Amino acid sequence: MQLNGRVALVTGAGAGVGRGIARALVEAGAAVFVTDIDLEAAERVAGELGAAGGRALPFRLDVRDPAEAAVACAAAVERLGGLDILVNNAGSTARMPFLDMPKSFFTELLELNLVGAFVCAQAAARVMIARGKGGRIVNISSNSGRFGGRGRAAYSASKAGIIALTQTLAIELAEHGILVNSVAPGPIRTERTTTERPSEAFTCRMALPRFGEPIEVGRAVVWLASDACSFTTGHTIGVDGGLTVTGIMEG
Ligand SMILES: NC(=O)c1ccc[n+]([C@@H]2O[C@H](COP(=O)([O-])OP(=O)(O)OC[C@H]3O[C@@H](n4cnc5c(N)ncnc54)[C@H](O)[C@@H]3O)[C@@H](O)[C@H]2O)c1
Repeated sequence: MQLNGRVALVTGAGAGVGRGIARALVEAGAAVFVTDIDLEAAERVAGELGAAGGRALPFRLDVRDPAEAAVACAAAVERLGGLDILVNNAGSTARMPFLDMPKSFFTELLELNLVGAFVCAQAAARVMIARGKGGRIVNISSNSGRFGGRGRAAYSASKAGIIALTQTLAIELAEHGILVNSVAPGPIRTERTTTERPSEAFTCRMALPRFGEPIEVGRAVVWLASDACSFTTGHTIGVDGGLTVTGIMEG
């Protein structure tokens, strides 16, 4: 078990990708603080993980609020005995045509997807530094942070911001023994996804033309959070079936 004895806080872990990340961390031996703005969803996931033999506790956290983030980090230490890993996963994938997009849509999406990651990273890093044991921060970006896409003016900007934030935090936190990396998923099957395959808009560019599973994102997070990852910081790893490296597929 790569993460035995480690404590991880995952944001937005009550559904979708965050739920898969929490599961992968528990399977690797970590105790997981399952946080979400929706406490009932966090309780459901923590219950599932506990029933499967893992150590997981639910907690309500709105990632946009620095006071709540500080309370959640302190609570992880108090209830689970530490804070070694933060996974900034909470986010919205909402889209809207650029010409119709009100400023409020843009700023609210950035507040959740990008500012929320800044807020939680700062709260967690302060606790990690005070404990003097180093740590790991893994930010969930997206293939949309690497290239543009229709309807994604706010989403792409927020996820490109995550990639840039990851680079700078890696530099500023290295002296404290904290490694900071990012995972950029492609299309992932979640509770919100109803179709068998992602749309042709995705599959025509994917070497592996299928949805990824949340647990596959989680396993990349586990590696970045483990001692096996010791000389990688500031990077973004694609878990995207090849979507962001594909050029000519035929001929
Ligand atoms: N699903 C995909 O295909 C995909 C692809 C690339 C990246 N991602 C990224 O993965 C992350 C999760 O996406 P998902 O598809 O699982 O979304 P989702 O909507 O299924 O789950 C998001 C979770 O975040 C929670 N949340 C919302 N606002 C919050 C807040 N203010 N504070 C704390 N929690 C909050 C929700 O309650 C929910 O449980 C996002 O950052 C998203 O950009 C997803």
